[in-house]
Amino acid sequence: MKIFSGIQPSGELHIGNYLAVITQWLDLQEKNDCIFCVVDWHAITVPYNSSILQQKIKEVAAIYLASGIDPEKSTIFTQSAVKEHVELAWLLNTITPVGDLQRMTQFKEKSAKHAKNICAGLLNYPVLMAADILLYQTEVVPVGQDQKQHVELAREIARRFNARFGETFILPKVQIMKIGAKIMSLTEPTKKMSKSDPDQSRISLFDTPEQIKKKIASSTTDSGHEIKYNPEEKPGISNLLTIYSLLMEKTIKDAEKDFANASYQTFKQRLSELLVEKLTPFREKKTELAQSPERIEKILKAGAEKAGIQAQATMAKVRQAMGL
Ligand code: TYM
Repeated sequence: MKIFSGIQPSGELHIGNYLAVITQWLDLQEKNDCIFCVVDWHAITVPYNSSILQQKIKEVAAIYLASGIDPEKSTIFTQSAVKEHVELAWLLNTITPVGDLQRMTQFKEKSAKHAKNICAGLLNYPVLMAADILLYQTEVVPVGQDQKQHVELAREIARRFNARFGETFILPKVQIMKIGAKIMSLTEPTKKMSKSDPDQSRISLFDTPEQIKKKIASSTTDSGHEIKYNPEEKPGISNLLTIYSLLMEKTIKDAEKDFANASYQTFKQRLSELLVEKLTPFREKKTELAQSPERIEKILKAGAEKAGIQAQATMAKVRQAMGL
């Protein structure tokens, strides 16, 4: 099957990105034709620091590699290295109703957050995302809960294009985790963990053991003392249990059993130790890759060449279908 997914090089990648998305990629890359993109054109739709964008792109690629994404099996590249993404995005813009874009949850949230700086790119962001997906005739798109709506829109845009100009695109399907598709903030567990929120609200993949321990110790928990999964009544503990169960590859039920008579403090200590153990390889790999930046550049360049060939083939079909 053809798989496509991507992460923006903005802010610090966190365990939500890893547990909900990258772990799906690791499974999928074993038996499928996978493309994993660093989506830099998406990252510039809100104010950003242009002097560190290139560094951020390499950091995201380093995370893909540190997680175990294998460039021999999967294609890894930077979105802006394959210009067909913008060409297709423009063409898809011509068949996408503005109303569909205005009702996207992420547009509403981001435009509220950046109220003085709403560019047309922020509104059209899901069209670029549809272009990313459709350009490669993608069948499955593994993402977190917050991107489900955008993938469904991509499917609808493909359906509309095929109906108007003839069968051209495969209709992509979204794939999200049954548990953990939305990892919540450590400080406000009714909100999702986000790259752009304050540092103490998330565990970043490059956090030191001291940072991890401090953040877990001060994470918001709920009244009561039982370690039980109940997102409505116990959002804080339920989120920590979800993180624990994903790291341990256990069910929530079994995770609860591990802490049947334990205090919140004991649970948090065990979770911190586990996170330190799981995240240490990320920091080590980052240091190792920082010493050979040319290795990442080479992987991204080879990936862009491979992706480019497929993108050009789709664009030839699209131009012909549209009479261009
Ligand atoms: P981005 O960069 O915001 O997030 C990357 C991926 O991580 C998921 N995610 C989460 N999952 C669980 N819990 C959380 N707290 C959490 N926060 C983020 C996101 O759902 C996403 O899968 N528009 C996309 C990037 C993109 C893309 C694409 C994805 C651009 N083109 C094509 C798939 C296919 C985004 O902003 O993700």
